[in-house]
Amino acid sequence: MSDSAYTIADLRAAVSAAGRAPSVHNTQPWRFRLRDGGIEVLVDPQRRLPVTDPTGWAARLSCGAAVFNLRLALAVAGTPAQVRVRPYPEEPDVVARLTPDRPRPPTPVDQKLYAAIARRHSNRAPFWANPVPAEARWRLIEAARDEGAWLDLIIGTPAVNAFAEIANSANRVLNRDPRYRAEMARWVRYEHAVDGVPVTSGGPIAESQDLLPQRPFGVHTRAPGRDFEPEPLVAVLGSPGDSAGDQITAGQAMQRVLLTATDAGLAVSLLSQPVEVPAAREQLRLALGRFGAPQIVMRIGYGQPGWPTPRRDIDELIDEAESTAEEPVLASTVEADSARRSRPEGCVAGGPDGYGSKVPTDH
Ligand SMILES: Cc1cc2nc3c(=O)[nH]c(=O)nc-3n(C[C@H](O)[C@H](O)[C@H](O)COP(=O)(O)O)c2cc1C
Repeated sequence: MSDSAYTIADLRAAVSAAGRAPSVHNTQPWRFRLRDGGIEVLVDPQRRLPVTDPTGWAARLSCGAAVFNLRLALAVAGTPAQVRVRPYPEEPDVVARLTPDRPRPPTPVDQKLYAAIARRHSNRAPFWANPVPAEARWRLIEAARDEGAWLDLIIGTPAVNAFAEIANSANRVLNRDPRYRAEMARWVRYEHAVDGVPVTSGGPIAESQDLLPQRPFGVHTRAPGRDFEPEPLVAVLGSPGDSAGDQITAGQAMQRVLLTATDAGLAVSLLSQPVEVPAAREQLRLALGRFGAPQIVMRIGYGQPGWPTPRRDIDELIDEAESTAEEPVLASTVEADSARRSRPEGCVAGGPDGYGSKVPTDH
């Protein structure tokens, strides 16, 4: 552990990468602040979806993805982070605290994944028929594993059909609730906005023959015969437990898988309906024969690239209270950090790749 501290300049440089993370309905439910020389990521409760996300699972997954981007940005800038997930039990909105590890040059993996941040976006369009090669599949599985999560690929027509049944029945359950439909509609954007899902990124309007459920974000119909790929590569990302800490860890793993996919030239769209309905989530877990909890589903393939969706300005994301302070004073920073270290927390050491790995807390 280095005895240095992050500065407001480090925070600002890293937050623009963090804010590019995916989030449910592009709500961007995160805030960032500098405190005692550490960068802290907080859930923004104002931006949590009360109907779609009553427990805060999706907001924590989204914030976990932002933490992963932060780690990459800090590593590429030469000072990778040690990460503590949920560092203060009495402040559950603080999802992670990042403190500087020993400075070192970025690794080629840091650089590749960091470069993928700006190119990654959800691609809800039909993919081409080209299969995803075995080598790329392994890279995705390892990306999840490197972050303490698992990624199961659903392979073969019967398995994909069984998954589709679970996903479609979850989708029907969710759509029976008018509040759920209204909440989703409020995040569809027909004109430029800094959040929400632009209709141009929404994918084509769903048709009755579609295998997988699609959220109604798009307005365009498909040309005749232009159907979705008949056997998509579906992957389920899950975590060993389902505590708040597990969900933040799963968010980091999700982002590592997504950036690894982008780096491999793959397109991905996310599906969360089968995770949002508890009975469907349990059915999925049993079908996979897994302990732990499915956290998000990915459809993976090759396709026509789309466009990144808009994000809020970084000034809106930074909590000013302590962030505007001058460069932190080293002695008091170290003192404050060691005081915090005496609390129960999910502590981590820098990972072998240098941008930090974490042991999730179980609170
Ligand atoms: C927890 C979570 C759940 C999501 N669920 C869905 C989903 O069910 N359907 C979908 O099309 N996109 C889903 N998304 C993707 C978001 O809509 C997308 O990340 C957001 O609109 C930002 O766009 P981008 O991924 O292109 O940056 C989900 C994202 C997260 C983090």
